[in-house]
Amino acid sequence: MTVTSTRGNGMAFPEDLRDWQHELRVQFPIITAHPELAYLDSAATAQKPQAVLDAVHTYLTTSNANAGRGTYTWANRTTELVERTRDRVKEFLSDPAPERSGVHFTSGTTEGLRTIARDWLTSYLTDGDEIVVPVADHEANIAPWLETQRLLAAQGTHVRVLRMPYQAGSHDYDHVALAQLAGPRTRFVAATHVHHVYGGNMNVHRIRQAVGPDAVICLDAAQSVGHLPVSTADLDVDFVVFSGHKALALPGTGAVWARQARGPALAPGGWNGTPNTTGIVSLGTALDWLQAAGIDRIERWTTALAARLTDGLRHLDPYEILGCELSLAAGSPVQQRQGIVTFRHRDIASGDLGFILFSHGFMVRSDNHCQGSAGEKTGSVRVSLHVYNTPEEIDRLVAVLASLR
Ligand code: ALA
Repeated sequence: MTVTSTRGNGMAFPEDLRDWQHELRVQFPIITAHPELAYLDSAATAQKPQAVLDAVHTYLTTSNANAGRGTYTWANRTTELVERTRDRVKEFLSDPAPERSGVHFTSGTTEGLRTIARDWLTSYLTDGDEIVVPVADHEANIAPWLETQRLLAAQGTHVRVLRMPYQAGSHDYDHVALAQLAGPRTRFVAATHVHHVYGGNMNVHRIRQAVGPDAVICLDAAQSVGHLPVSTADLDVDFVVFSGHKALALPGTGAVWARQARGPALAPGGWNGTPNTTGIVSLGTALDWLQAAGIDRIERWTTALAARLTDGLRHLDPYEILGCELSLAAGSPVQQRQGIVTFRHRDIASGDLGFILFSHGFMVRSDNHCQGSAGEKTGSVRVSLHVYNTPEEIDRLVAVLASLR
């Protein structure tokens, strides 16, 4: 029988996932080695399961070589592992036509977005075109597009930047205003799948409806890949950019998936040098691990933890939760909060609150979270969750926050 416990916001805690989660949590050595600590900063980077550590060790002790060059067994094996991970990324993103897409490895989302801006968008745009820039999202999804505009202007090609409109309160994109803003010259839309501060799922389908069938949509999926199903068969987007290290792979890994349907293929320029083979090997294993764990379950678990936290926090007077106060259930016409909850204390600065929380064993991010200039003007504390986090950690956190009234 499935046992659930219902909390104040109407979202049931998935008690049926307790055993499943416990089996996964114990696979993270850094987590089990420190039961007195709670790692609540997975939106910055995630911890690594033993399978990923083992895969890296095995690779370095059996096959380490460069890829795509030599003809001896270690080199061939490395090339094979890199290509296998490329296919794995496509499969993980439910690519409906893998023969018509490309995967490029990067150090993370920032480098991925920059690569598209520098090596693709500059040659795609023509004089008088418009691009939509999400000015209240992560700076990494703003700066590259403004740089493209500057580079093109220096060559005499003038591109207009349209500021992505947002709804007050929820901070979801304002799809109605976007539809009014976008016209036939709107050729490129930079968007985010899950907001790194507000935690909301930004309703990608509605972005497509608002901008029509011809605009290229580039999705910053840094906070969604590895946390919820990201299906390119379902989302009509052209680029999906993510950080492998937030999806349980090693630091310095990420990827750009490019559909190559609207506009020319992305061909990163220059001489790319030696790929991060160890990181790429770790990414292939991390995606295998996530798939075996079950992305749907990971989403259910982390959204339920976020709901538990918003539910605990919104009754505590000194705290302001940023974005949607509730974690709304799947299928809601309003945005759904994923495993990210950001808040402020009325009287305690975010940096101080971060220090206080760490003195109680909680590792959180506390600053402006690299948000663009149209974002929050004062710092906040961000709690971001992954499959290794537990309801007990959330309850302890709420108890500590309650004591800071
Ligand atoms: N982009 C990462 C974050 O939001 C580092 O924390």
